[in-house]
Amino acid sequence: MNHGEALRKKIESGAARVGVLGLGYVGLPVVTAFSGAGFRTLGFDIDERVVRRVRRGDSHIGDVPARAVAAVVERGLLDATTDFGRLGEMDAVIICVPTPLGKTGDPDVSHILDALRHIRDGLRPGQLIVLESTTYPGTTRELLQPELEQGGLTAGREFFLAFSPERVDPGNPTHTFTNTAKVVGGLTASCRELAAGLYERVIDEVVSVSSPEVAELTKLLENTFRAVNIGLVNEMAVIADRLGIDIGEVVQAAATKPYGFMRFTPGPGLGGHCLPIDPQYLAWKMRTLQYRTRFIELAAEVNAEMPRYVVDRVAQALNRHRLPLNGSRVLLLGVAYKPGVGDVRESPALDVIELLRRQGSEVSYHDPFVPRLAQEGGDLESQPLTAELLASSHATVVITDHPRVDYGLVLEQARIIVDTRNGLPQRQGERGEPDKRGEPGGAVLYPLSGPPRLTALGGDAGSGHGLLAPDLEPVPGMDSSRGEAIPFDDVARRYRMSAGDQP
Ligand SMILES: NC(=O)c1ccc[n+]([C@@H]2O[C@H](COP(=O)([O-])OP(=O)(O)OC[C@H]3O[C@@H](n4cnc5c(N)ncnc54)[C@H](O)[C@@H]3O)[C@@H](O)[C@H]2O)c1
Repeated sequence: MNHGEALRKKIESGAARVGVLGLGYVGLPVVTAFSGAGFRTLGFDIDERVVRRVRRGDSHIGDVPARAVAAVVERGLLDATTDFGRLGEMDAVIICVPTPLGKTGDPDVSHILDALRHIRDGLRPGQLIVLESTTYPGTTRELLQPELEQGGLTAGREFFLAFSPERVDPGNPTHTFTNTAKVVGGLTASCRELAAGLYERVIDEVVSVSSPEVAELTKLLENTFRAVNIGLVNEMAVIADRLGIDIGEVVQAAATKPYGFMRFTPGPGLGGHCLPIDPQYLAWKMRTLQYRTRFIELAAEVNAEMPRYVVDRVAQALNRHRLPLNGSRVLLLGVAYKPGVGDVRESPALDVIELLRRQGSEVSYHDPFVPRLAQEGGDLESQPLTAELLASSHATVVITDHPRVDYGLVLEQARIIVDTRNGLPQRQGERGEPDKRGEPGGAVLYPLSGPPRLTALGGDAGSGHGLLAPDLEPVPGMDSSRGEAIPFDDVARRYRMSAGDQP
C-alpha cells in the first residue's frame, strides 16, 4: 500500500491523528471540531498560557465554549503541548499561525517559517500538511514545498501538501467552522483528495479547486471584496456628509433593492486581523510582478482615514455646543473591531483614542467584551455604563454597536452622541426592556454623516430656537459665555454647505 492509500484509510476510519499548529481564533475551533468528531488531536502553540488553558479544558476564544473544550479533553481526544518534537506523531498537521504585516507593510511569514522548521524536523512519509493561514498566492508551492522537501521527502508522493483557507467569522453564531463550505487546493491530485477527505469528516461541504494558488487567491478575493466595498461605502459616508445627508438612511433605502445591490455599512474604519491585512498580501505579491493593485490601495487609504473623520465629527459636534476637544471628556462605546467580540486587533477605536488624546481629550470607554485596553498613552479599563458616566461625558461616541449595551440609557442620559454605526435610536429597546424611554432625553445625536438630530431638550428644528449647549459644566479654564449658541436652522444650512468647516 502506498503512503497516500494508507493515510486515506486512517482518515476514513477516524484513526488519523490530527495536529493543529497555533491555537488562536482559527486553530482552536479547528482542533475542537476534529476532536469533537472523534479524532485524537494535539494542539501545538508557542504560548504556554494558551496550552495550559486548553489542557485544563478551558477556552480563551469567545466562539468556542469552554464546555466544548472540556468535553473533548475529558474524553482524551484533545491535548495541547509546546513540545514540537511530537509533530512526527501526527498523520495530519494543520497550520493556523498568524500572518501579520511587518513594520514596512510587507507580509511577515516568519510564523509560517517557524512552524515549517518544526514540521520538517519530524516529517515522515504518509503525513499530510495543510496551511490555513491567509497568505499570498504561491506560498504553498514557493515556500512550503521547498522548505519541507529539504529533508529529502517528495511532496505528492511521500508526504502531502495542501492549502485550505480559514473562513472563521468571529462572533457569528450562524456560520461556524463546520457549516461553512471549505475550499481545498492540493499540490497534486492525491494531496487535494487527502485534504478534502480529511475536512469532509467534519465539514458539511468541501469545495475542491485545481491548485493551492486558486485556493490562496480565493481567500484574498473574498477579503479584498469586503475591504473594497467597505471602503466604497465609507467614502459614500464622507460624500453624503458633504451633501448634508445621513448615509445610514441611504444605505437602508438602497438595500431594499432585491437584486444587484449588496448591503455594506459604513463605520469608523476597518479592524480585525483579516480585512486591513490580507489584501496587502496580494498587493505585495503583485508589486513583485510590477503590477499596482489600485482598488486595494484606494480602499485601504479611504478606510484608514475614517478614524480621523470620526474625530473631526466629534470636534464639530462639541464645537457646536461651544466645547473644545481639549479638556472634554469623551466616552467611547465599544472598542472592539466588530460587535459581539472582544478582539481589538487593528480596531479603529485605537486610532480614535490616540487622535482624541493628542487633542487633549480625556478618553474613557465602555465595552462589555473588552475589560482592559493597553494603550501607549496609558492603559484604560472599561467603565460601568451608568447614568452618571453618560451625563458627565461631554460626548459619547458609538464605535462598536455591541449587543448587551443599554442604548435606552445612552439616549436618555448622554448629552452629545456621535453614532458612527448609525444604529441609534433603533437599537434602544434591545435589552428587551419596554421602549418607554422613547425619545432621547437631552441628547443631540450626530449620525456618521449629515445634520444632527434634535431631541427633547434641544428645542425643535422648525422653531428656530437656538441649539442649546447641553447641560454640562464647561471644560475647566474655558469661558462658557464666549461664542454664541448657533440656531439649529443655521447649523443645518451651514452643514449642508460645507460639512468639513466649523460653523
Ligand atoms: N481571526 C480571524 O477571524 C481569521 C479568519 C480567517 C483567517 N484567519 C487567518 O488565520 C491565521 C491565524 O489567525 P488567528 O486569528 O487564529 O491568530 P491568533 O493570533 O488568534 O492565533 C495564533 C496562535 O498561533 C500561535 N503561534 C504563533 N506562532 C506559532 C508557531 N510558530 N507555532 C505554533 N503556534 C504559534 C500564537 O501563540 C497564537 O496562539 C492568520 O493567517 C489569519 O489571517 C484569521
